[in-house]
Amino acid sequence: MNLQDSFGRRFNYLRLSVTELCNFRCNYCLPDGNDCNTPKGGLSVNEIQTLVQVFAGLGTTKVRITGGEPALRKDLCEIIETCKKVDGIKKVALTTNGFKLNQDIERYKQAGLDAINVSADSLDPRMFAAITGKQKLEEILLGIERAAQLGVSSIKLNTVMLKQFNYKELDAFFDYLRSHKVTWRFIELMQTGDNKGFFDKNHVAGQTIKDRLIEQGWQRIIRETDAGPAQEFMHPEFAGNIGLIMPYSEDFCESCNRLRVSAQGKLHLCLFAEQGISIRSFLSVGDVSGAQQAIVSHLQQKHSQHFLHQGFTGATKQLAMLGG
Ligand code: GTP
Ligand code: 5AD
Ligand code: SF4
Repeated sequence: MNLQDSFGRRFNYLRLSVTELCNFRCNYCLPDGNDCNTPKGGLSVNEIQTLVQVFAGLGTTKVRITGGEPALRKDLCEIIETCKKVDGIKKVALTTNGFKLNQDIERYKQAGLDAINVSADSLDPRMFAAITGKQKLEEILLGIERAAQLGVSSIKLNTVMLKQFNYKELDAFFDYLRSHKVTWRFIELMQTGDNKGFFDKNHVAGQTIKDRLIEQGWQRIIRETDAGPAQEFMHPEFAGNIGLIMPYSEDFCESCNRLRVSAQGKLHLCLFAEQGISIRSFLSVGDVSGAQQAIVSHLQQKHSQHFLHQGFTGATKQLAMLGG
């Protein structure tokens, strides 16, 4: 059986948050730390195994492990390995702030990790610290190089574009791509329940960056229909590619291919939707078909799009609660 919503979108991609905690304080996300009263005890490895079996049985082929910061979990390698071993799962990916990447990427790779997305909000150590609250840029860049040396085939760097911070570095980001075979993704700042003032001062329309790319000779890459909402660009003189994530663009949600499960085992139909429904009681007793029925039935309530344009930010006060 394959998961499909009432608008005909198919969902083959699970984003699984394994903790709400994060050790960074990115100004667009968690300037004051988590205020989500972090409930203790995220999903156990056994519950994760059942969850991934549940989704694989519904046609999921890709699992992205997110947080908070997933590397804060000591059993991250075990989680990667467990996801990868489930029948039907072809790709296991990780989204991380990169603080442990240099130290642990080899172990992640051995555990079966296929792809990694790392937050890289600046190439200037002082700007990096101003945005993230951490002096960690050098270490993170080393981790990215290490991942490339080890042959991790998909490496994406995520930058949230901020008018008063890193926007002036755009050309430096492009330059990095001359010699690095990674995809640099520029993410349009999204308004969340917690960041309205910051959003008003720092939002840069994705179209502004797209115009700069086109001017400089970057060409749109046509992706498969189920490849998700990012737009990708290539340039013959650059080793790397560029990705644009423009949640405020009109057709962004038409290509939505992902569902989210929180660290507490709640299914969320969108980053900006309702509170989510808990499927944890099924996972703790290994009830695969019960969980599947709950997912199929809840999916019919997925809306055609988020309503961010209208200032509606849903129940997600910070994206760290749900892994972006
Ligand atoms: P891949 O296609 O798997 O590489 O993933 P991705 O771009 O979805 O993954 P990543 O975890 O790197 O996400 C980067 C950021 O894109 C997230 O933190 C969000 O800010 C944004 N994003 C990802 N998925 C969605 C989505 O469904 N809706 C919205 N509005 N933003 C999203
Ligand atoms: N707007 C856009 N992206 C955000 N992220 C967190 N908060 C926001 C926001 N308000 C994303 C960043 C980071 C990922 C973990 O979450 O892309 O790389
Ligand atoms: Fe930064 Fe990601 Fe942590 Fe948010 S969850 S504070 S974006 S590292």
